[in-house]
Parts: sequence; C-alpha cells; structure tokens
Amino acid sequence: MFDVRRLGPGDLGLILELQERITSSLADKDVFQTSTPEFISYCLAGGGRCYGVAHGPDTVAYRMVYFPRDRAYNLAKDTSLPASAYGQVGHWDTIAVMPRWRGHGLARTLNARALADLAGTDIRHLFSTSSPENPHGVRTLIETGFRPVRLVRKFGGKLRFLLYRPRPAGWPPHPPGDRTERIVALSATGELDDAFHDGWTGVGITIDGPRSAYLRMARQPPPFR
Ligand SMILES: CC(C)(COP(=O)(O)OP(=O)(O)OC[C@H]1O[C@@H](n2cnc3c(N)ncnc32)[C@H](O)[C@@H]1OP(=O)(O)O)[C@@H](O)C(=O)NCCC(=O)NCCS
Repeated sequence: MFDVRRLGPGDLGLILELQERITSSLADKDVFQTSTPEFISYCLAGGGRCYGVAHGPDTVAYRMVYFPRDRAYNLAKDTSLPASAYGQVGHWDTIAVMPRWRGHGLARTLNARALADLAGTDIRHLFSTSSPENPHGVRTLIETGFRPVRLVRKFGGKLRFLLYRPRPAGWPPHPPGDRTERIVALSATGELDDAFHDGWTGVGITIDGPRSAYLRMARQPPPFR
C-alpha cells in the first residue's frame, strides 16, 4: 500500500509542493520549520538523504536527513561534542506526513528506513529539534531512539527540544538498579530546563490531549556533557 523510496535531485519540486501543502494545513505553523530550496537541493544532491512515501501516484510523506560535515549549521555546536566529531554528525531534519495519512506509522517507517540506510557510514551522532508544542513530533523521535537533552532557541528564537541519539548503538541501557523517573509537563519549560541541566534526559512521552503531554525523564546525561 505504501512504498518508501530515496528521493533525488529531480524531486525538489515534489518536496517544495508537499512542504507548502503541509504548512498551510497546520493550525500552529510555528511547530514546523520550512526549508529553503537551496537547503533541500543540497540534501537531495547527497549533502543529506531524503525519502518519500508513495501511496499510488501520490507522495504523502517525506523525511529529510542532513549531514553538516564542515558547514556552519551543525546542531552539535549547541553541545559539548568535540569539534573533531562534527564530521560524524547527522541531522534528522524535517519530517512531514499529509494530514489525511497521519497515524498510519509513516513517520515510524521513514525514520526506520533512514536509520537503517546509515549502516556502513561514519555518521555517529544524530541530532534533531522538535517543538515542545508538538508532542507527536517529539514522540516519533523518541521512538527512533532519540532523547531530548536540552532546550534551545532556534529559527529566530523559537523554543525547541534538542534531541540526541548515538549510533550505531543507541543510548546505553538505564544504569542497573536506578529506576528513578521524573515526569515533567512539556509546558513546564523552566522545570525541563533545570532537569536537563541536572543531567536528566527524556526517555518517553505521554500524550493526554492536544495541550497536555508529559516527558518521562531518567537521570542519564548525554555522553559529551
Ligand atoms: C509528527 C508527524 C510527522 C507524525 O507522523 P505520523 O506518520 O502520523 O506518525 P506515526 O503514525 O508514525 O506515529 C506514531 C504514533 O503517533 C500517533 N500520532 C502521530 N501523529 C499524530 C497526530 N497528529 N494525531 C494523533 N496521533 C498521532 C500515531 O497514531 C501513532 O500511534 P500508535 O503508536 O498508537 O500507532 C505528523 O503528525 C506530521 O506530519 N505533523 C506535521 C509536521 C510536523 O510537525 N513535523 C515534525 C516537525 S519537523
């Protein structure tokens, strides 16, 4: 029913059109950061990797991955990851599913494919950002093995979780015997900020409703703090 395919330089128009349709469908446009044609072209041409999900003749979802290499825009710069490792960074950039096809696991499928395709590459550190106002966006990343590790301001001052996943192995298991957990509302940004600074990271999310979601946190800081 759904086919995932790697997109190439000829698919710029397709992504731009999907981006436009998805943006215009969003109630809160602040949660979705659009990309410039230059950035998308760069990713399509091998500076990253882009995937689309086809349903019959239509493309209904896409995911972009970006490798900053020696370019200026690198989320690792918001962390203490050593500069010598910047070349091994991958960004889980934009993902979007057409409204009608949400809840069919397409984000999960795209994330799994993009992660599997990194096999054999030198990419060791994956970063992403997601708005605390977009719990479903955060959840699909946590399901892919990312953890919110701090709050940052991006895209002209918008509040975002910075999420991190090491690869190929994901986060190490929770230290044996430590079952301490903390539950913090996504809206409690001051409390989240303090928790991140104290070495807590997000391990799960509970979504009760559109304005009610909670991050489950474990005391396990990222390896590069
Ligand atoms: C966030 C987004 C990419 C998730 O895509 P998706 O394909 O619907 O997600 P999945 O179906 O793989 O999600 C996994 C789970 O979350 C649920 N879910 C995801 N988005 C949902 C939504 N908007 N409403 C209700 N449930 C949702 C799914 O039902 C699924 O639940 P399950 O585990 O019980 O099966 C999609 O909602 C979207 O395109 N949003 C607008 C753009 C955006 O915010 N992108 C992220 C920032 S770049």
